[in-house]
Amino acid sequence: MSPRWNENRLTAKLGIDYPVIQGPLGGLSSQRLTAAVSNFGGLGSFGAHGLAPEVIKDVIGEIRSLTSKPFAMNLWVSMEDEGARTSDENAFNRSLAPLAVHIDALGAPRPTYKPYSPKRFEDQACVLLDANVPAFSFIFGIPAREILEECRAKGIVTIGTATTSDEAAALQQAGVNAIVASGFEAGGHRGSFLRPAEDSLTGTLSLVPQVVDIVDVPVIAAGGIGDARGVIAALALGAEAAQLGTVFLACEESGASRLHRETLQRRNAGHTGLTKGFTGRLARAVHNRVMEDLNRNGTEILPYPPQRELVRNLAIAAEAAGRADLLPMWAGQSASLSPCTDVLPFLTSLVEEISEIAGPITRWSAARRKKQIVK
Ligand SMILES: Cc1cc2nc3c(=O)[nH]c(=O)nc-3n(C[C@H](O)[C@H](O)[C@H](O)COP(=O)(O)O)c2cc1C
Repeated sequence: MSPRWNENRLTAKLGIDYPVIQGPLGGLSSQRLTAAVSNFGGLGSFGAHGLAPEVIKDVIGEIRSLTSKPFAMNLWVSMEDEGARTSDENAFNRSLAPLAVHIDALGAPRPTYKPYSPKRFEDQACVLLDANVPAFSFIFGIPAREILEECRAKGIVTIGTATTSDEAAALQQAGVNAIVASGFEAGGHRGSFLRPAEDSLTGTLSLVPQVVDIVDVPVIAAGGIGDARGVIAALALGAEAAQLGTVFLACEESGASRLHRETLQRRNAGHTGLTKGFTGRLARAVHNRVMEDLNRNGTEILPYPPQRELVRNLAIAAEAAGRADLLPMWAGQSASLSPCTDVLPFLTSLVEEISEIAGPITRWSAARRKKQIVK
């Protein structure tokens, strides 16, 4: 029986004080945010999938200069979709068409076709291994056996991400230390890897207990958790930590633009939708005009990541012009629950509120988990 709500197998393994994880925010992470969460006693994460290996090395050094506490570095195991390398200038021009009208209206130069230059997950992972990061989390697949073995040998905690119970079973089989069960409420990409993302849209409330019942490693609940009520619910479902993304994205410390953060801080930010239009992979973001345009039937979308590079051109112009209707803004369904503007007061009150009630819930939940394992 765990004596306190905040002490369990996962917090012990990671060496953190609270089972609260700031989810990696690939592209919008910041060293400051990661360190602030870790310094508080949670686990800060940094989404590094878009960075070159030498930049990742610098980022790890910077995080280490800001915190001596454990943190996670996050990568995407699958870095491109079929057709990314063969996608040509004609396809580029067809996919540019729905964006060009906005780019022109904003007075920005139209982008021109550039062949895509790939980054390799293995090269990025090498940096994490060399740097001996405290935790290595990943999404969109399972790293090769040799990488996971090296993590084990070095004591690097591995955290995989599942969007279905089949993916959770595969991650456990591969020997990861913990599994994020990511419900479809979550902001950002749907990291599915066994079935298409469109067929892997289980909600957090259903997914977490299903995963808890079939794996024996600690489960981390993600998706739609924006305050103490959500964390308590996750613990009741059998999760040993909650991973929050959108709420941290809204904080001043995040790497999101001011326009994006202010949109998330508004009470009416909660209307989100799923689209492949922003990157070529299915992801959740604020429903706005540019999402509607790209979701229209017949719109040609490039594979991941060329579509991401293409849309980035509009994003830069929209941000400069202060046009939230034309800016891709990642967000989960909990967006309107995000009054968080600074990490420290947010986490302080989150933990205070959870502490009032979570003791008996986590004890009950741990006992239930044990019974399930015995069955
Ligand atoms: C902008 C953004 C970027 C994200 N990038 C990553 C990523 O690179 N890797 C990853 O594993 N999860 C990523 N996520 C998922 C979050 O880490 C987290 O699991 C998710 O946001 C939790 O759901 P919530 O948004 O409802 O809080 C991202 C989420 C957002 C909003």
